[in-house]
Amino acid sequence: MILITGATGLVGFHLMQLLSKEATPIRALYRLEAKKDHIKNLFKAQNQLHIFKQIDWFQADLLDIPSLELAFQDITQVYHCAALVSFEPKDHIALYKNNIVGTANVVNLCLAFGVEKLCHVSSIAALGNGTEHQLCITEETERNNELHYSDYSISKYGAELEVWRGYQEGLPIVIVNPGVIFGSGFKNSGSSLFFTKIKKGLPFYTKGKIGIVAVEDVVQTMYLLMNSPISGERFILVAENPTYHQLFCILAKAFNVHPPKWHASKVLTAVIWRLDWIFSTLFFTRRKLTKAAAQSLHNEEFYSSQKIKSTIPFEFSPMESYLTKLAQDFK
Ligand SMILES: NC(=O)c1ccc[n+]([C@@H]2O[C@H](COP(=O)([O-])OP(=O)(O)OC[C@H]3O[C@@H](n4cnc5c(N)ncnc54)[C@H](OP(=O)(O)O)[C@@H]3O)[C@@H](O)[C@H]2O)c1
Repeated sequence: MILITGATGLVGFHLMQLLSKEATPIRALYRLEAKKDHIKNLFKAQNQLHIFKQIDWFQADLLDIPSLELAFQDITQVYHCAALVSFEPKDHIALYKNNIVGTANVVNLCLAFGVEKLCHVSSIAALGNGTEHQLCITEETERNNELHYSDYSISKYGAELEVWRGYQEGLPIVIVNPGVIFGSGFKNSGSSLFFTKIKKGLPFYTKGKIGIVAVEDVVQTMYLLMNSPISGERFILVAENPTYHQLFCILAKAFNVHPPKWHASKVLTAVIWRLDWIFSTLFFTRRKLTKAAAQSLHNEEFYSSQKIKSTIPFEFSPMESYLTKLAQDFK
C-alpha cells in the first residue's frame, strides 16, 4: 500500500489522481474534515467520486507519532508531500516543527516499518545560491551560509537533511526540488494568488526570475522516480525560468487585463517590505511582503532541470499554454 502525506494539498491531490490509475491501494493522510471535504468536491467535479471513495483516508498529524505509527501499517512506498508553506516570519517555530520534525518522524517510521522507498517533496528553496559569475543553480550548487534565508527555506533544507540521514541509515530515497508549482483546484492559496492579483490589475512588476512548473509534471516525475531503481539522488523540477514581467504578461493576456506597467526597483521593494513590517507590527496583521520575498523578486538566478531530463524520459509542459488554460479555468 502507498502512503501519501499532505493529501489535502495541491501536490497530494494531483498525485492521488495519478496513482489511482495503478492497482496499488492508496492511504491518504489528512488532518481536518473540512480539507478532506474540499478534496472530495474536487474529485466530484471531475466525475471521479469513485476514486475518492477507494482511498483509505487516515486522520493523523505528522507531529502525533502514535497516530502516524498506525498510518504506516502495511505501507511499502511513501510519498511525503506534507509541509507548511509559509513566508510569514511569525511562523518560524511552526515551520521548524511541521517541516523538520515532521519529516524526521516520517523518515524514522519508514525505517522502523521497512518501507521500500520514500519520495520526498523538497523545494528549490532548499538548494544553494548562485554567484555573480554563476547564476545557474543545479543540484550540486552549495548554500552560502552568510546569506539571508527565509525560515521556509531553512525548514525545507533541514527536512532534506533528515531524508539524507534516513538514506545513510539504509532507506532508499528520492528527492524532488520543484520551483513554484501551478495547478488547478486550490484557488485561494499558493501560486493561485498570482492569478488573483493579476486579475485585479497589478500595477508593478520586477525583472527578477522565477522557476515554475506544472503540478502534473511534478507528480509524473515523482511517480517515475519512485518506480525506478534510482536512489540517493535529488532532482530540480523547473520547466521554465521566466522573469516576473514575462509571467505577469502571460497571465494578464489570459485574463484580458492590462499587464503591469511600472517597474518596481530594488529600492522600492526594500521600502515596501519595511513599511509592511511596521504596519503588521502595529496592527498585528499578517505580512504581505517579507524581506526574503522582496529579495526574491529581483533574483537573477535560474534553475537547471538538465539532470531530470537526462535521467528519465520526460519533457516538461510548455508553461505559456499551460498557464493560459489554467487562467481560463480560474475565471
Ligand atoms: N506549492 C508550491 O509552489 C511548492 C513549490 C515547491 C515545493 N513545494 C513543496 O511541495 C509540497 C506540497 O506542497 P503543496 O503546494 O501541496 O502545499 P499545500 O497545498 O499547502 O499542502 C500542504 C499539505 O501538507 C499538510 N500538512 C502540513 N503540515 C502537516 C502536519 N503537521 N501533519 C500532517 N499534514 C500536514 C497539509 O494539511 P492541511 O490541509 O491539514 O493543512 C496539506 O495537506 C510541500 O512539501 C512544499 O514545501 C510546494
